[in-house]
Amino acid sequence: MYGLINQAIMGHISDSFGNDAWEKVRIKAGVRDEFFLSNKIYEDEITFDLVAAASEILFVDVDTLLRSFGKYWVLKIAKEKYAKLMEYAGNNFIEFMDQLPNFHSRVMLLYPEIIPPEFLKEKIDEKSFLLHYYSKRIGLGSFMTGLIEGLAQMYDTECDIEQVENEITEISHIVYKVTLK
Ligand code: HEM
Repeated sequence: MYGLINQAIMGHISDSFGNDAWEKVRIKAGVRDEFFLSNKIYEDEITFDLVAAASEILFVDVDTLLRSFGKYWVLKIAKEKYAKLMEYAGNNFIEFMDQLPNFHSRVMLLYPEIIPPEFLKEKIDEKSFLLHYYSKRIGLGSFMTGLIEGLAQMYDTECDIEQVENEITEISHIVYKVTLK
């Protein structure tokens, strides 16, 4: 994955647990780089190793970490570094979700070699919808939950998010039911 993801993991851990904790995580994960270049592509393994090491060092389970990382991504990184991209994507939570299937094609203008996730939104009624998340990467379902939570918070929208399907074949297909309160 592009280095901006590892950069954000580093930022999240340093902001929440301090720089010393980050150093311990980095060393435990066997990562030599002391910083990451946002435009360089790193092995996915580095990202997964960092998350696994953080879970052990910080005594937080992987899903809780990924979920808080998803929120951090939206509320801190996207807000501060990709404000324009986010603004174009909608004026409210539902609008943002409607255009989510196209979102990473715009991201591709900045990061052309991205291997993006794919999304499909199915309306159930005025208050609820299903969001299908397809990925070549396995194990990032809780990251998505955190991203959706972060987006809801960004738009001051209260909702329940429930994972209703989790199917792993050659790819991962997870379905979330989102219900506005
Ligand atoms: C703020 C702007 C955003 C940027 C610049 C961005 C960029 C990226 C990049 C570079 C990757 C790594 C993939 C790779 O390098 O091959 C990634 C992965 C991912 N992004 Fe985004 N993204 C953004 C917003 C979002 C939003 C709003 C969502 C969903 C609500 C999302 C969902 C994901 C997921 C789930 C992955 C994990 C990769 C996978 O599942 O295969 N991203 N994104």
